[in-house]
Amino acid sequence: MTTRDRSGLAEALEACRPLPPDGPNILKALLAVQSALGHVPPSAIPQIAQALGATEAQIAGVLSYYSDLRTQSTGRHLIRVCTGESCMANQGGRVFRAIQDHVGVAAGRTTSEGRFTLEQMSCVGNCAVSPTVMIDEDLHGRVIHSDIPSLLEHYR
Ligand code: FES
Repeated sequence: MTTRDRSGLAEALEACRPLPPDGPNILKALLAVQSALGHVPPSAIPQIAQALGATEAQIAGVLSYYSDLRTQSTGRHLIRVCTGESCMANQGGRVFRAIQDHVGVAAGRTTSEGRFTLEQMSCVGNCAVSPTVMIDEDLHGRVIHSDIPSLLEHYR
């Protein structure tokens, strides 16, 4: 971890420190760490456990259970393709394959130059305009497979 990461981790944990009589909210703390660092480094588990008054096993358990929590850093842009029912029924699979072909990596992987990380996601409630793709915080609906190159061109 860099000095900047250590500082971000300390700040995120300070904001999530449990106040008695409440117990620790491990998920909230891990989401805060991920927001600060872009991921939750496994090497930070002891420090997180100590700050929350929890065991390392409890932290590791929550970290491995929730798929929204990631233990590795992502590329500059995170592409998430919805694999929910509505999106899959509306060519979502074709959109996913078009993105895979365009960026050249499988789901869960980051391109070699670090530009994109590709992931699948569950329904985000954008079904009315499916298929849905999220790129960073941008929600794109009615995505057409042939538009993928021009869509991704906006994310350098
Ligand atoms: S199924 Fe994809 S947004 Fe709902």
